[in-house]
Amino acid sequence: MNPVSSPRQSQENLNPELGLTPAQRSNLWPMTALGYAAWRARSITWLSGQPFPLEREAKLFLGLCRPRPGEFWLDAGTSTGFYAGVLARAGCRVLAADLSAPMLAGARRREGEGNIDWYLTNLEASGLPEASFDGVTVGATLNETHDPARFLAEMSRLTRPGGQLWLMYLGRTGGPLQRLLSLPALGGLTFPDPAWVARQLPGWTRTDWLRAGAVVFERYVKVAT
Ligand SMILES: C[S@@+](CC[C@H](N)C(=O)[O-])C[C@H]1O[C@@H](n2cnc3c(N)ncnc32)[C@H](O)[C@@H]1O
Repeated sequence: MNPVSSPRQSQENLNPELGLTPAQRSNLWPMTALGYAAWRARSITWLSGQPFPLEREAKLFLGLCRPRPGEFWLDAGTSTGFYAGVLARAGCRVLAADLSAPMLAGARRREGEGNIDWYLTNLEASGLPEASFDGVTVGATLNETHDPARFLAEMSRLTRPGGQLWLMYLGRTGGPLQRLLSLPALGGLTFPDPAWVARQLPGWTRTDWLRAGAVVFERYVKVAT
């Protein structure tokens, strides 16, 4: 049974105690949600310095994670619903979560409701039940979230033993633009080092990874207990 079969779409799911980075706050604006799909379609190509359309990203994810029909996945920080849509078309059930109501509204219009529940929450403290999901996708949400260590601990808690975690994020380059965007007053973004990410995931094994320019893709599997 789906442990979160009736997610509530209300502001009550957003924990007001949690801080938000400027980058997170910018996602609450309807204008950001309107423009995000156009950015997302080209962003990995620009950030990796090689042709990387969404089709290539979907193929990479599907080839490594092999999501199976009937599995229950969390798309953490779904934005336009890219990973949610890929998973739904693979026959999975998906909880597509985001703290931005305009992002969720746009994604719902784009991807529909077939196998996808759209859920407004801050995933640093969603209160969702432990070990709910067979797999979790995190497409760049790690860069934006206020407390990336807490966020990863939550993704770990929500995944069942033996389950998968798929990460796509901008890794640390040490460049001046990253330093600027990390400033709390500007973006508050985090550009993690893959070794730091691995330290946040005790009890997980990294099975696959690819670095393309600044963009890091990683597949982790939670050790079955
Ligand atoms: C870079 S975008 C993600 C793009 C999307 N995952 C993809 O691959 O196309 C980050 C999204 O995560 C959401 N977000 C950031 N921090 C979050 C959090 N703590 N809980 C829920 N959503 C979050 C933002 O609102 C934004 O829509």
